[in-house]
This record gives sequence, C-alpha cells and structure tokens, in this order.
Amino acid sequence: MGSGGREDALAWRLRQSPSCGELIAAPGNPGIGRWAECVAVDPMDARAVTELSRSRSIGLVVIGPEAPLVAGVGDALRAAGLAVFGPSAAAARLEGSKGFTKDLCKANSIPTADYERVETLAEARAALDRFGTPVVIKADGLAAGKGVTVAMTLAEAEAAVDAAGDGPLVIEEFLDGEEASLFALVDGETAVPLASAQDHKRVGEGDTGPNTGGMGAYSPAPVLTSELEAQAMDEIVRPTARAMAAAGTPFSGVLYAGLMLSREGPRLIEYNVRFGDPECEAIMPLIEGDLAELLHCVATGRLAQIEPPRLSGRHSVTVIVAARGYPGAAASGGAIRAIEAAERVEGVTVFHAGTASSSGGELIAKGGRVLAVTAVAETFANARARAYRAVDAIDFADGFHRRDIGWRELERAS
Ligand code: AMP
Ligand code: GLY
Repeated sequence: MGSGGREDALAWRLRQSPSCGELIAAPGNPGIGRWAECVAVDPMDARAVTELSRSRSIGLVVIGPEAPLVAGVGDALRAAGLAVFGPSAAAARLEGSKGFTKDLCKANSIPTADYERVETLAEARAALDRFGTPVVIKADGLAAGKGVTVAMTLAEAEAAVDAAGDGPLVIEEFLDGEEASLFALVDGETAVPLASAQDHKRVGEGDTGPNTGGMGAYSPAPVLTSELEAQAMDEIVRPTARAMAAAGTPFSGVLYAGLMLSREGPRLIEYNVRFGDPECEAIMPLIEGDLAELLHCVATGRLAQIEPPRLSGRHSVTVIVAARGYPGAAASGGAIRAIEAAERVEGVTVFHAGTASSSGGELIAKGGRVLAVTAVAETFANARARAYRAVDAIDFADGFHRRDIGWRELERAS
C-alpha cells in the first residue's frame, strides 16, 4: 500500500521473493506498475483496502506510509483476518505523537533529549526561558519530518512558538552529534536490527535550506558501528518493544529509530513506524533472502523463530530527483525521459516517487520528489559514482537534485 519511492522499492524487492506469487499495489505508481498490478484503491480507505485484500485472497499486506497506520487501517485489516506488516494505531503513536514517545522514554529510562510538553503559547514561552538556546520545538503530531524547528537563538525559538500558537508542542533539549537511522524489525517483544542509513533532510547542498522528506540516503551508515548499533538495540529499541508489549499495545512492523550519536552514546531523536523514504530505496537492494517471507514472519509473530535478516555487505546510495520548487509548491507535468539509459549503469535501479503517465502515455512528474535513483556497489564511493552517472543520464528539465549526497562518508574516506 502506497504510491511513493519507498513503495516502489518494497514492491521491487517483494517481486524478487520466491514466496511472492501475485503482487498488487494500492494505488501504486507507474514505476510500481513494472512489478505489480496497480489498483486504484486509497490506502486511507480501510473498507476498500479490506475488500480488495479479501477478494484477491491476499496473503500479506505491507503498509508503506505512516498515515494509514496512524489511522488504524492495519487494525481493520487484521480484524478481517489478514496478515499485515505494520503496527496497530495504538502502536503507531510512537510516530503519531511525539509527546507519547517522550513520556514512554522517560518512564523506561530510554536515552533521549530532556523535554517538556506544553499546551499553550504562554506555557511554551515559559519553557523557552527554562531551556535556553539552542532548543528544539516540535509540533505534537504527524508532520512528515517538517514540524520541527531547531532554534539556535531565542528570537528563532520565539518565532517558532508564536507561529505555532496555542496547541500541543514538545520543547526539548538540543542534542549535539551526528545523526543515523536504525531500522529494526519488531514483533512484540522480539526486535532484531535490519539495516542502518543516513539521509539528507535539507533541500540544499551543504545541508542548507528548508527541511524536506529527504533528498538522498545511503546504507549502511558506517558511523553506526556494530557496537553502537548493539547499544541502541539494547538501550532504546528493545526497551521500547518491551514497554509497548507490557502496555498491551505491542508493536509489529519496522521501527525506524532516528538516533543522535552523542558523546554519551546513542540518543533517540524520534521514532517512525514504517520504512524511511528515501532510506527504504537504499536499504531494499541490500537485503538478502526472501523479503516477503521475512515480513510475513513479522506479521504473524514468528520473528523469534527465524534466522536474523541478512545484508549483502555492499553499499548503496540513493539520490532524489525532485521537481523544481520542492519542498514548496513543485512544478508538475514535466516530461521525464531516458530512465532506461540511467538503468543501464551497473547496479542502478530508478525507483519512481511522484511520477504519472500523461494522456499521451508519456512519463511526467506529479509530485515533489519524483525519482529515487539508487545504485549498489562493493564500496560507498563506487555506489555514489554510479548513482550520479545514472542521474546525469536522465532527461528531466524540470528537476533538480543535490550533488553532495553522502558528503560525510566522502570526508571520512579522505
Ligand atoms: P524529528 O522530526 O524529530 O526527526 O526532527 C527532525 C530533525 O530535527 C532531526 O532529524 C534532527 O536533525 C533535528 N532534531 C530533532 N530533535 C533534535 C534534538 N533534540 N537535538 C538536535 N536536533 C534535533
Ligand atoms: N526520510 C525521512 C523519513 O522517511 O521520515
């Protein structure tokens, strides 16, 4: 379920799974149509999705985006007896409510930034006085990674709380360090690491300009060493899984922990209850084995009984090509050509995010993030070089991309 680059990568990898017979996407996009039958069903419409799944005798429903999870579409499907990869609405609060997650961390001594939940503008202003700067201000709801202000000065902080007005906010301590994302498969009390990644949230090169859903990503994130990954699993992910299970709202699906690797060790910045986009595009090509079977084991509570997931040991880099104007109002309708030329570069797959077919059958842009150009190689540097060679082969006059995806890794290498 879904229609973005993340779902294209999932569909591509599921299609390669020996256990996958028929693959249906709701609603999908032209890229997903290469691997799946696309059916015009809205992922937010629980009844329509349930009806489709039943009528087609679906063995596993994989929910890509957060909105249907938070809205309880997974619960409706499970109530109808279907196997679902993705958490219940109650467990999806780990992403849907930052306040919920912060309270859970505090109650379970899970390392994260100190915080305060406020409800009114007056409370927010008072909290700013206590925290000083830098300080971080977050809207307490789903905001696609865009509801966060990291304020370096009091003036910026005051402007952010004034703009938010009355309403729930989380005000929290600024954490210093490098960010990395850890993707763990969780079913109830069992949690195993799947992969790591780093992304680039800002629209501009040098990590400047407004935040976006992500302009590029790579996997693995070497900065998250196996020691730090084990520490994050033991101190953050597993205590969260146990706390959710103990509360009667066990988590099932992929838990995406946004971590700050601070000097004191990994700290949780936020959880997402689904794969990241574009992190998923970078991760999928590295997963070995039968992905459909793996996700089915999670969906049916058998994660503890199977071999842990395996990665190929290779590196992947995803570069997003977005429509001009993104993350603001993006130009749509621009023609996209020569994807085949890009995919002739070794190790490259071009996943579709916001694409559509014009009435004349031409591939055109219809969203902010349009393509997720992904390359795999034995080394990070080669994967990156292949990704940019592929990007350069694409003919999309209305598009733009960042040339510096993975700059931290390049810097480390030199
Ligand atoms: P979030 O939506 O919570 O992931 O926040 C978006 C981005 O804001 C994160 O990826 C970080 O770059 C930054 N951020 C969030 N919380 C903090 C924090 N406590 N300290 C420093 N940066 C933060
Ligand atoms: N790339 C960040 C996210 O999916 O939330």
